[in-house]
Amino acid sequence: MVSRIIPVENFDLVIIGATGDLARRKILPALYRLFHAGQMPESARIIGAARSDMGRDAFRAVVQDAIRQHVPKDKISADMLAGFLSAIDYTPLDATEDKGWQNLQAMLRADVIRAFYFSVGPQLFAPIAGRLHDHGLVGDSARIVVEKPFGRDLRSARELNAVLAGSFDEHRIYRIDHYLGKETVQNLMAVRFGNMLFEPLWNAQYVDHIQITVAETVGIDGRGPYYDRSGAVRDMVQNHLMQLLCLTAMEPPSIFDPDAVRDEKLKVIRALDPVAPAEIVRGQYRAGGGAACYRDEAENPSSTTESFVALKCHLSNWRWKGTPFYLRTGKRLRARVSEIAVVFKDPPHSIFGPRGPRRGNVLVIRLQPDEGMDLRVTIKEPGPGGMRLIDVPLDMSFAEALGPKGIDIPDAYERLIMDVIRGNQTLFMRGDEVEAAWAWTDPIIAAWEARGDAPVAYDPGGAGPDDSLMLLHRDGRRWREIGK
Ligand code: BG6
Repeated sequence: MVSRIIPVENFDLVIIGATGDLARRKILPALYRLFHAGQMPESARIIGAARSDMGRDAFRAVVQDAIRQHVPKDKISADMLAGFLSAIDYTPLDATEDKGWQNLQAMLRADVIRAFYFSVGPQLFAPIAGRLHDHGLVGDSARIVVEKPFGRDLRSARELNAVLAGSFDEHRIYRIDHYLGKETVQNLMAVRFGNMLFEPLWNAQYVDHIQITVAETVGIDGRGPYYDRSGAVRDMVQNHLMQLLCLTAMEPPSIFDPDAVRDEKLKVIRALDPVAPAEIVRGQYRAGGGAACYRDEAENPSSTTESFVALKCHLSNWRWKGTPFYLRTGKRLRARVSEIAVVFKDPPHSIFGPRGPRRGNVLVIRLQPDEGMDLRVTIKEPGPGGMRLIDVPLDMSFAEALGPKGIDIPDAYERLIMDVIRGNQTLFMRGDEVEAAWAWTDPIIAAWEARGDAPVAYDPGGAGPDDSLMLLHRDGRRWREIGK
């Protein structure tokens, strides 16, 4: 169960591209879980739309398969499934032609919230936005949801923003970065701004450095063509890691309100210094452990796309001047770990002499797996033998802490879809934020393209290339282990 049911208004949600991978893996299972948790109003409707000329029953079979594949068995019962499927409808629709739009128009109700989820490639955003408009489907309550990648550079992101702005006001555009829907990411704001404990120390005076890691064990399997045109910087750093950086570094907004939060995030992105080429390490995984190498998976024998990146960046503002942020993300690494580690400075003087603590306090915010927080503190090692100091974790797993049976932490998409219906844009990227993130990322990519740099090879199942370790070693620091 989820912690509390906050009802939302009745809605018609149209998923355009409803038979695609994202819809089947993420959107439809998330909707089912919301239905299961009693969070979907009884008469809410989900209308699938795609090019396939199938009927409602055939689409319901697609939905049923998706749920059986992607929802844990203990949440699936025949009654629940039947109830959910009865809310599902379908209409064939061609994004690039006028076929099907009148039919969709006829299916929509006038008196409920209308949301259109663009679960399609960005090249279709413009034709869909235009047709929604031309066919009169955009009522007063209409809103659209668009997925990443939101462009592949500043120019294309600007074009997309301009195209969408032609049909929709900014307050109706929900740009998804699913990392913002993760429970612990929201918790970062709660921890920072709901407690007195951390905020006074949350600055360059007390924080030595910050590490943000998103490590994955998977490769690029099945996504070769998309991924090979993107690489880790475009696929992960420009969006997910950037959002984690923003929430870690931003000033407290005056109020928890969509624009107040996004204004503060934007200031962080704009305060980022350009990254020097020597402070970026790019890697590409070799074959190993029975899995193919990156180039074979990408089906591009001469690919120079990175499946790993580590970089060091600085923020030029009062709070963070002098505190480096180290970011790294990669595929086929030792473990699946996403975390933010805030490493505090050592005490200015150790009264315990040379046996004093060598590492500062570390606050680790774990996004996955096992969402929670861990604060490393120095204590006396219990027992006789004088004053020996050790570092121990004060570990708080949210699942354990929140009740004897734990809590069912909702998937990011559950949270985000409900926020779309509620009309709450706090956890969605604003157009200027996306553009600012590309404005910072573009020169990084342009610099290595101009030099013709190739990524260094790394073995699967490890922590990425050794050069990434060096990035910190030469500053007298070290990365936290990936999965111990
Ligand atoms: C996606 C990226 O946005 O996020 C993928 O395109 C990546 O390459 C995924 O695997 C990671 O998401 P999560 O929620 O599994 O950490």
